[in-house]
Amino acid sequence: MGRLDGKVAIITGSTSGMGRDTAYLFAKEGAKVVVTGRNEARAQAVIDKIKADGGEAIYVIADTSDRKAAQKIYDQTMKAYGTVDILINNAGQLSLTPVQKMTLEEWDAVFNVNLTTALLLTQLCEPELKKNKGHVVNISSVAGTAAKWGPIAYCTSKFAMVGMTRAMAREMGPDIHVNGICPGAIRTAMLEGSGADATIEFMKATAPLQRIGEGSEIATACLFFSTDDSSFITGQLLRVDGGVDA
Ligand SMILES: NC(=O)c1ccc[n+]([C@@H]2O[C@H](COP(=O)([O-])OP(=O)(O)OC[C@H]3O[C@@H](n4cnc5c(N)ncnc54)[C@H](OP(=O)(O)O)[C@@H]3O)[C@@H](O)[C@H]2O)c1
Repeated sequence: MGRLDGKVAIITGSTSGMGRDTAYLFAKEGAKVVVTGRNEARAQAVIDKIKADGGEAIYVIADTSDRKAAQKIYDQTMKAYGTVDILINNAGQLSLTPVQKMTLEEWDAVFNVNLTTALLLTQLCEPELKKNKGHVVNISSVAGTAAKWGPIAYCTSKFAMVGMTRAMAREMGPDIHVNGICPGAIRTAMLEGSGADATIEFMKATAPLQRIGEGSEIATACLFFSTDDSSFITGQLLRVDGGVDA
């Protein structure tokens, strides 16, 4: 028996990285998983693997920099599975542009992907989540706790994700649990494409655990926040970062 048998879980940004690892773990635990992203080939590969391993999943292709994406993800989930028990707001876009070079176009795109789509999707899912006593998990970052870990748009959007998690928990209780995760450096395409080698080396050298993390280590934290193991916890942000700021 799986920990998530019969549950429907939307995991945004699950064509790659920690979202994909979370999709694999949740499917293994019995959830029907909704995989989302822009890249159809990768989305197909994720659901093929889930099905080959005996699980159940669909994918929805949607660009979350577009505010219409949330409605598409919600509608296709309801059409396939008829409800939502767990929402993992994970899709994220890195931005390395400094203050002086930031354009409103980039600012809006980063905020739409990292924050606004999470709000819109949570709004849409709230009635089902309430009915099912469901769970929301928001993926922020250590860049949502200290500016040293990220430039302006990324850092500001991830700080906002922390505030949004707390506000959602307060407004959506008692039936819905809302928690968040602040990952440190995790081995994914985003980290590999960031060019932040010096920061990664610094994290490795200064963190008590002296390594970067794996997507599977975020997936297990998402599972904790999606089950009764966290039954008396809401509005909290868990750092999964090797202790880098300890
Ligand atoms: N890796 C780290 O060190 C680290 C640290 C702290 C926080 N985080 C956060 O963790 C989350 C997952 O990142 P990751 O490291 O796993 O990165 P990743 O491997 O690059 O995965 C990012 C996921 O988000 C999706 N995505 C990005 N932009 C999108 C858009 N405009 N529309 C729809 N989907 C979009 C991607 O799908 P497509 O490519 O198919 O569009 C992909 O599935 C993000 O919120 C990130 O900010 C990462």
